[in-house]
Amino acid sequence: MTVPRPTLPVRTERLVLRPARPDDVGTLHDYLARADVCRYLPHGVQTREQCAARIETWARCLDPRQPDEHLLLFVEHEGRHVGHVILFLRGAELSKGEVGWALHPDVCGRGLATEAGRALVDLCFGHYGMHRVSAQLDARNTASARVCRRLGMRQEALLRRDYPNDGGWADTQVFAVLRDEWG
Ligand SMILES: CC(C)(COP(=O)(O)OP(=O)(O)OC[C@H]1O[C@@H](n2cnc3c(N)ncnc32)[C@H](O)[C@@H]1OP(=O)(O)O)[C@@H](O)C(=O)NCCC(=O)NCCS
Repeated sequence: MTVPRPTLPVRTERLVLRPARPDDVGTLHDYLARADVCRYLPHGVQTREQCAARIETWARCLDPRQPDEHLLLFVEHEGRHVGHVILFLRGAELSKGEVGWALHPDVCGRGLATEAGRALVDLCFGHYGMHRVSAQLDARNTASARVCRRLGMRQEALLRRDYPNDGGWADTQVFAVLRDEWG
């Protein structure tokens, strides 16, 4: 399948979305070592070594072409790495995307996750030509649900006791926006 690589970095009003670099380990660890950041992520708090391994993997994921591959971009604000966004390619012919985000708490509450998410969804529809973009989140993650709603995503489902978390099963919310609803 021939899908051209997106032009990077992606620039928005306040952000630069760019590939991960080996020297980002410290700034990634600054937020992924925090329990409040990882509480609803699919992994627990991360050691510096785990962050380094993630960066090594993510640095290789810049040219996704097959379903189930992903694109991971670091979010820079005022010259500082403050978070990341991820896009999973889904469906035949990469027709669908699934997005996610994480920010350092120091910069939360300023609309930066929404701004980064908007740029990512723009890539899905504009660059990849997808027809549907979704996000799946722990139903207790109200901050992330607000980002979805600010992006114009609608809640489509609540999957009960869907995901293992905290030694039990958490509910999953599914949000999505369609291509003809975007923009
Ligand atoms: C989910 C997460 C990225 C949301 O971050 P956030 O800072 O709340 O989201 P935004 O950057 O869009 O900021 C929105 C807030 O900034 C405020 N804001 C200030 N200026 C703004 C602007 N210019 N534009 C939009 N919102 C603005 C909004 O009112 C909003 O506040 P509210 O949530 O109290 O209503 C963050 O909580 C996080 O990283 N959590 C840990 C990782 C995680 O759980 N990721 C999601 C997994 S599904």
